[in-house]
Amino acid sequence: MDLLIYSFLILICNFDLATTQEEFSGPFCGLSGNYTQNTDYRHNLDDVLYTLINTNNGFGFYNSTSGQANAAALCRGDIQPENCRRCVDDATRRIRQQCPVQIEAVGWYETCFIRYSNRSMGSINDLVVFYAWNARNVSDSSIVQWNKGVADLLSALLPEAAGGGQFRKYSSLNITPPGFWTIYGMMQCTPELSEMECSDCLYGAVSLVQPLNRSLGAKLFRPSCFLQYENYSFYDSMWFPPPIPSSPSPTSSGK
Ligand SMILES: *[C@@H]1O[C@H](CO)[C@@H](O)[C@H](O)[C@H]1NC(C)=O
Ligand SMILES: *[C@@H]1O[C@H](CO)[C@@H](O)[C@H](O)[C@H]1NC(C)=O
Ligand SMILES: *[C@@H]1O[C@H](CO)[C@@H](O)[C@H](O)[C@H]1NC(C)=O
Ligand SMILES: *[C@@H]1O[C@H](CO)[C@@H](O)[C@H](O)[C@H]1NC(C)=O
Ligand SMILES: *[C@@H]1O[C@H](CO)[C@@H](O)[C@H](O)[C@H]1NC(C)=O
Ligand SMILES: *[C@@H]1O[C@H](CO)[C@@H](O)[C@H](O)[C@H]1NC(C)=O
Repeated sequence: MDLLIYSFLILICNFDLATTQEEFSGPFCGLSGNYTQNTDYRHNLDDVLYTLINTNNGFGFYNSTSGQANAAALCRGDIQPENCRRCVDDATRRIRQQCPVQIEAVGWYETCFIRYSNRSMGSINDLVVFYAWNARNVSDSSIVQWNKGVADLLSALLPEAAGGGQFRKYSSLNITPPGFWTIYGMMQCTPELSEMECSDCLYGAVSLVQPLNRSLGAKLFRPSCFLQYENYSFYDSMWFPPPIPSSPSPTSSGK
């Protein structure tokens, strides 16, 4: 029964020009209920949220575990380190304010998200999905071409993100169908997922945005992966993180 309840509680909203970078989507404060004050869980959660900011893997992924409490945060792959840190710091504060006593929670900014739970992170993907779409529609005469463009874009992005390796699973790309405007897209998974888990997460996301095929843009966030496409450039295509370290151990930078 738990499984049924957890599967895809869907939060939706549509956006137009009103959506700002600063909007905190969700937060979704979980269905596992509340913890009682002065329990181990509360102390563990305080611990992980306090230490989280110092666990950057060097590519904008943060994770921390203490007892039963697990927390993770991820910045979009094009976000520079200072802005990433600021976003995660802010998200940590926001989620604590808005989900003060809940066992698990997840919330998304446009450029980073945060989640925590007492469950293993592998099962957290079923928790919730948040999606939003541009309320403006593609005209009837363009819809076939638009959908083909979006489908081509998403199918190019998916394997590139999933195959990104153990530190960073991010892809961004734009395509311009002949005689049409350019479509910009981005996909990302938390890097602790395997290539297969990342693909599954993104396939799920793609199937969920398919019904939004008249919209000029859509974004979909899950607790371990997300995607977005728009008819304008929304990511930084000029900035790249430092090269992947050659040693297999993640660098932990306190910055
Ligand atoms: C959890 O706490 C919130 C905020 O105090 C309250 O609104 C909610 O009813 C509580 N839920 C449960 C299951 O006790
Ligand atoms: C954080 O994630 C990495 C995989 O990216 C994993 O090896 C490590 O054990 C995790 N650390 C914690 C504290 O959960
Ligand atoms: C998480 O907390 C809920 C509520 O207390 C409990 O039912 C569940 O078994 C816990 N899950 C884990 C993995 O500890
Ligand atoms: C866009 O298309 C959807 C689905 O056909 C429709 O419900 C909606 O009203 C349209 N929006 C606008 C702004 O025309
Ligand atoms: C758009 O999505 C709807 C619902 O999934 C589907 O019935 C329709 O065929 C799609 N339209 C195009 C042009 O792909
Ligand atoms: C996006 O689509 C709108 C509506 O059709 C159009 O007015 C606008 O010029 C497009 N934006 C770009 C950057 O092509």
